[in-house]
Amino acid sequence: MSGRRDLVRRVAGRVRREMRDRRQPYRGMGLTALAQEFGSDKWGVHRYTPHYQRHFAPLRDREMLVLELGIGGYAREQQGGASLRMWKWFFPRAQVVGVDIQDKSFVDEPRVHSFKGSQTDRGLMRRIVKRFGPPTIVIDDGSHRPPHVIKSFGILFPMLADGGLYAIEDIQTSYWPDWKGSLDPDDPTTSMAMVKRLLDGLNHEEFLDDAYEPSYTDLHVVAVHCYHNLVIIEKGDNREGSNKRRANRKWYAERARGSD
Ligand SMILES: C[S@@+](CC[C@H](N)C(=O)[O-])C[C@H]1O[C@@H](n2cnc3c(N)ncnc32)[C@H](O)[C@@H]1O
Repeated sequence: MSGRRDLVRRVAGRVRREMRDRRQPYRGMGLTALAQEFGSDKWGVHRYTPHYQRHFAPLRDREMLVLELGIGGYAREQQGGASLRMWKWFFPRAQVVGVDIQDKSFVDEPRVHSFKGSQTDRGLMRRIVKRFGPPTIVIDDGSHRPPHVIKSFGILFPMLADGGLYAIEDIQTSYWPDWKGSLDPDDPTTSMAMVKRLLDGLNHEEFLDDAYEPSYTDLHVVAVHCYHNLVIIEKGDNREGSNKRRANRKWYAERARGSD
C-alpha cells in the first residue's frame, strides 16, 4: 500500500474509532460478548472468557494497566488487536498495552497502545512500566514457546502490582515438542512444570527444612488457578504463617536430639 494511502486509511480509522468511543457502544458488556464482537479467539477456538470474567470482574472499574503479550495477526499487515479492543471495552478506565514482535501500531487508539518488541525484552518491559506504572493484569498470549513463557514470567511477575493477576494462555504447548514443549509431563523445562513448582512454593511455609530460602514467587504467589490450557496466577503476600512446629513436634524433637 502506498505511504499516502496508508496514512489516509489510518487517520480515517482513528477518527471512526474516536467517534464510536464517544457513543460508548459496548459499555457494560460481558467478556464473551465482547470477544464475539471484536473477533477474539479467547471465546470460540478457546473457552477463556468465562474464566477471565470471573477473575477480572472485581477489577473492572480500576484505573490500571492491562498488558498483553501478543497483539495478533502475526506478520499480516493491518491484522490483530481483537483482544486489546476487547480489554479496552471491558475495562473502561484502564490503559491497554500490547507487545508484539511485529509492528502493530495500526491498533493504537485512545487507551490502546502497541509496542514492537519481544515478550522477553526486559528493557522494553521496564520502559512500559516506567510510562504506565506496574501492570495489574498481564496476559501472555505471545509465542507460547515455554522458554519465552518462563522468561516473560520471570521478568514481569516481579513488576506486577500487588493484588495483580498474571494469565498464561495456550499452556498446552508444554506437551508439544514442535513448540519447545515435551512429551514427558514431568519434564522440568516446560511452562506447566514452572506452574507446578509455583504450587509447591505456595505452601513453602510448610516445608520442614528450616534452612529453606523462599524465592520471590514463594513469597508472592497467593493462588494458582488452572483451567484447560489457561493458568491465572494471583500476586499478594504469601506469608500466612504455619502450625508446622505444633503439628510436627515429634519430627522436630527427633531432629533436635540428633543434632545434640
Ligand atoms: C495468538 S496471537 C495474539 C492474539 C491476540 N492476543 C488476541 O487474542 O487477539 C500471537 C501474537 O504473538 C506474536 N508473537 C510471537 N512471538 C512473540 C514474541 N517473542 N514476543 C512478542 N510477540 C510475539 C505474534 O506476532 C502474534 O501476533
